[in-house]
Amino acid sequence: MRDKIKAYEEQAKAIEPDARQRRTLRDAIVNYTEQFLENIHDLEKIPAFRVNDTGIDLTKQPIADEPIDLEKAIGLVAKNVDNEGLNPASGGHFGYIPGGGIYSSSLGDYWADITNRYAGVFFANSGAVRMENHLINWMKEFIGYPQSALGNLASGGSIANLTAIVAARDAAGIRAENISKQVIYLSKQAHHCINKAINIAGLRECQVRHISLDDRFRMDMEALKIAIEADLAAGLNPWLLVGSAGTTDTGAVDPLDIMADIARQHGLWLHVDAAYGGFFMLTEYGKKQFRGIEKSDSVVMDPHKGLFLPYGIGVVIVRDGSALRNSFAYEASYMQDTVNLADEVSPADVSPELTKPFRGLRMWLPLMIHGLKPFRAALDEKLLLTRYLYQQLRQIPRIVLGPEPELTVITFRFVPDDGDACQFNREVAGKIHEDGRVFLSTTTIDGIYTLRFAILAFRAHLESIDLALSILKEKYEEVAGQAEFQGRH
Ligand SMILES: Cc1ncc(COP(=O)(O)O)c(C=O)c1O
Repeated sequence: MRDKIKAYEEQAKAIEPDARQRRTLRDAIVNYTEQFLENIHDLEKIPAFRVNDTGIDLTKQPIADEPIDLEKAIGLVAKNVDNEGLNPASGGHFGYIPGGGIYSSSLGDYWADITNRYAGVFFANSGAVRMENHLINWMKEFIGYPQSALGNLASGGSIANLTAIVAARDAAGIRAENISKQVIYLSKQAHHCINKAINIAGLRECQVRHISLDDRFRMDMEALKIAIEADLAAGLNPWLLVGSAGTTDTGAVDPLDIMADIARQHGLWLHVDAAYGGFFMLTEYGKKQFRGIEKSDSVVMDPHKGLFLPYGIGVVIVRDGSALRNSFAYEASYMQDTVNLADEVSPADVSPELTKPFRGLRMWLPLMIHGLKPFRAALDEKLLLTRYLYQQLRQIPRIVLGPEPELTVITFRFVPDDGDACQFNREVAGKIHEDGRVFLSTTTIDGIYTLRFAILAFRAHLESIDLALSILKEKYEEVAGQAEFQGRH
């Protein structure tokens, strides 16, 4: 039996490379990623968007007993993944809500993956848990929550929102037998992950009111009050109000201060989805803009958006920490060693996850080695770039702009003299996508096809904004020059 064990050990050795083999692997991957970074600012070489339907070679490479060369593996990814579709690492990415991918955070991941510390329970690694809680405590502080609040570093905004909604559900004592009397109030512009969370949390049968918007796409407070009064009169139970601190479509910030007062008056749980906007609170402007957030019951904010970290981290914070613990803490016999003797909450007790990546290091390392200053500067830069862009767009003929941006999203569309305006804008968007140097995503607001700029890529600077403007003008001219749109311009 010993010989057989040794034979298997020998065969398995490939997954434990020695120092020389590690260097070979590391050098090849670092060389490749360095090449990517060297060219990332050259939007001709590495565009923000490339419409290639690749990936097929990957499916032709079987997952087999025998390995392939590292060079071949890198080549497959280079061609089939990194050379196609949307490039979220690009400074020309203005679509959806851009995020980050800062280098120091990737090294935090590398480090955490190699040492593979388990950050799920305090017993297993008190340092890792303390680091994550320290980050959460810092966020509690700048949103104005008490230290008794608890939170979790989740995988992204969707799971963070789900976590908050489950805690809100349990705190309100919602059960199957009373579910259809419970009312949830959402803005029409709430992110769709909130609707998903409601469904996943078993709340599909609640009454969901989509409250109308004011002319700046913020939840209309009068409409909210009327809806709550009507529901109370009908014998229903208003219990959850969801606000946005930066909507995805338009970057609108709901009137959080008034919402908090309404919530308090009627005993509703106020959840604020600040997945996109949350980190603007590091700026003086953002602090003013989000006044009232400190009175909410739960908040979500995504470091993989506003703190420019690579994808894979969203934070949920619940004011009444015991509500989060009540929903997620479990005891199991095989976890009996993990009893926490310190006054420190374990991530596993406040989230659906047990085994999880040590997400703290990817966030802590950049904050430590860069300090907050450059993050704050980058956020202020994006806010100003947005104002600059808004002014420049104003000067383009035949453009209709959405409201003055509250954060860093601008909506707009062209209105040609003749022809179908939606089709016109669709064609402009199509030409921008074909060009690929910059990427804009589109949306439909009140049935109208709308273009948008979202400025949050950390590599988006004045040069890429100017380039985007010139591309936009060029593509507008091209479409306007087409026979079907030649009106009186
Ligand atoms: C306002 C808002 N909430 C929630 C989400 C969902 O977050 P994630 O994509 O990290 O799951 C997004 C994503 O763009 C968002 O913009």
